[in-house]
Amino acid sequence: MNQNPIGVFDSGLGGLTAARQLRRLMPSENIIYFGDTARVPYGNRSRETLLQYARQDMRFLSRFDLKAVVIACGTISTNCLEELRRESAAPVVGVVEPAVKRAAELTRSGRVGLVATRASVSSGAYERAFREANPELEVHALACPLFVPLVEEGRCRPGDVVIETIAREYLTPLKEAGIDTLVLGCTHYPLLEEVIGGVMGPETALVDVGAEAARACRTLLAERGALAKDREGAARYYTSDRAADFQRLSALFLGENAARQVEHIDISQY
Ligand code: DGL
Repeated sequence: MNQNPIGVFDSGLGGLTAARQLRRLMPSENIIYFGDTARVPYGNRSRETLLQYARQDMRFLSRFDLKAVVIACGTISTNCLEELRRESAAPVVGVVEPAVKRAAELTRSGRVGLVATRASVSSGAYERAFREANPELEVHALACPLFVPLVEEGRCRPGDVVIETIAREYLTPLKEAGIDTLVLGCTHYPLLEEVIGGVMGPETALVDVGAEAARACRTLLAERGALAKDREGAARYYTSDRAADFQRLSALFLGENAARQVEHIDISQY
C-alpha cells in the first residue's frame, strides 16, 4: 500500500476527463492535477516547445512525493514520453500505449482510426505503437484542430449544427475507409463521444484514451502493491492562469464534481 498521490498534467482543463476516470476507478487515491491554462493550446506547437513545457510541468509536479504520473495530454504523450520517462523518478503513464492495446483488441476488420491534435498526428507515435502491437493493422490518422476550441466553447452536444457539420466533414473519410475502431486521441474528445459516434455509427468502437490510461495506471500500481486503501481520496488542482476561470470551466469536464481546491502557480519558476 502506498498513500502518496498520483500526479496528472495537461495543457489545460481537458485532462480533467482523465482525472475523472482515475477518480472513478480508484476512489481511494489522492490526485494532484496541473493544467497549464496560461500556455494552452499545445496541439499546434513544435516538439522543442512541447518538451520545454512538459519538463516544466513535470518539475512542478515533482514537488509532491508522487507514486505515478499520468500524462493526460495526448500531444505530450505522443511527443515527449520517452524523455519524461527517462527523467522522472516516478513511473510515467502516457495515453498512447494503453489506447493502442485496447484498439488492437477491439478491431475485427483490422482497420483502425485515430483522431488527435496536429502535433500528435505528425509525431507518428500512434502508427509506431500500432505497428508494434500488430503490423497487419491499417491505421488512418487524422488531425482535427477545430474540435478543441469548439469543445471549450461548449459546442459539443448532439444537435449543435456547428460541431455536427465539422465532425461530419472531418470524419467522413475515416468512415469511408471502413475503420471499425476509432481512438479519440485528445483530452477533449470524450466530450464529443455522442457527436462522433453519431457520424461514425454504432458499428464503430470508440476508444477513450483517458479511460485507458487510468486503467493502465491502476494496473501499474496494483502490480507494485502501491494502491491506496481504506480512505476516500481527494483531488487538488493547480493552474498557471486564473484559478477562478479553471474552477468555473472545470464543470464542463468534471460534471457535478467540479474542482473545489484550485491554486494558481507561476510555471515560469520551474
Ligand atoms: N490536451 C491536448 C491534447 O490532448 C489538447 C488541447 C491542446 O491542444 O493543448 O492533445
